[in-house]
Amino acid sequence: MSNNEEILLKARNIRKSYYIGTPNELEILHGIDLDIRKGEFVSIVGQSGSGKSTLMNILGILDRQTVGEYSLNGIDISNAPAKELAKLRNRHIGFVFQTYNLIARTDALSNVEMPMLYAGLSPKERRARAEELLEMVGMTERMHHTPDELSGGQKQRVAIARAMANNPDIILADEPTGALDSGTGRMVMDIFHDLHEKQGKTIVLITHSNELAAETPRIITISDGNIISEKTQEIKIIRPATEERKEIC
Ligand SMILES: Nc1ncnc2c1ncn2[C@@H]1O[C@H](COP(=O)(O)OP(=O)(O)OP(=O)(O)O)[C@@H](O)[C@H]1O
Ligand SMILES: [Mg+2]
Repeated sequence: MSNNEEILLKARNIRKSYYIGTPNELEILHGIDLDIRKGEFVSIVGQSGSGKSTLMNILGILDRQTVGEYSLNGIDISNAPAKELAKLRNRHIGFVFQTYNLIARTDALSNVEMPMLYAGLSPKERRARAEELLEMVGMTERMHHTPDELSGGQKQRVAIARAMANNPDIILADEPTGALDSGTGRMVMDIFHDLHEKQGKTIVLITHSNELAAETPRIITISDGNIISEKTQEIKIIRPATEERKEIC
């Protein structure tokens, strides 16, 4: 990867501590340095409790680091006023969680429209884009269903469509296939591959699955709050619209 490519996410010496009653400080992340470039598909692996979600929450500006610098798209988050953070998050980041986090009693279409409402799009624009995104994830026929009428895989497809609503620079996915069976997880993973390959989307995927991580060009391993290894690999995927994926490494 050339050094000229644009750095989207830049984290330096990120530390995160929780305070469990004074003076008991518990440091969870111990100084993470990480650059993610535009168009990368990176997976983050590591044991339960190693700090993956803590890191993702900081990268997604859902939480703040205790120490260190973090910039997103050249904007220094550490110094951004709190009011700006929600806007930055809504415009630049799409989230996908293991538990979908869809709004209950609200149909798929409205769930996908929601981030666009906050971004100020007109009802007509929101509707058109939400329909397009639901079509992209194969959910056109179920767009008027509420989350409790959808299967896990269908909910996750809606969540991915929602993550894409404002055409974010980056998608942060925390165990998106964690609650799904392997076939359904495969379908979700294929959507991420499509977004990466066809739309050049930058994706950070947290996963417990070494098999899924092995499909991504860069794998970062976290252990006890430190990045302990990093691997990059060239992956060329020939992928017609079939169940089968062929990798030529
Ligand atoms: N609010 C909090 N207060 C205190 N400790 C916390 C808090 N949130 C997380 N932790 C601790 O931070 C550590 C890292 O948690 P984190 O959720 O980042 O792990 P993870 O790698 O995502 O694990 P998993 O794979 O199980 O999701 C854990 O030991 C957890 O107990
Ligand atoms: Mg986690």
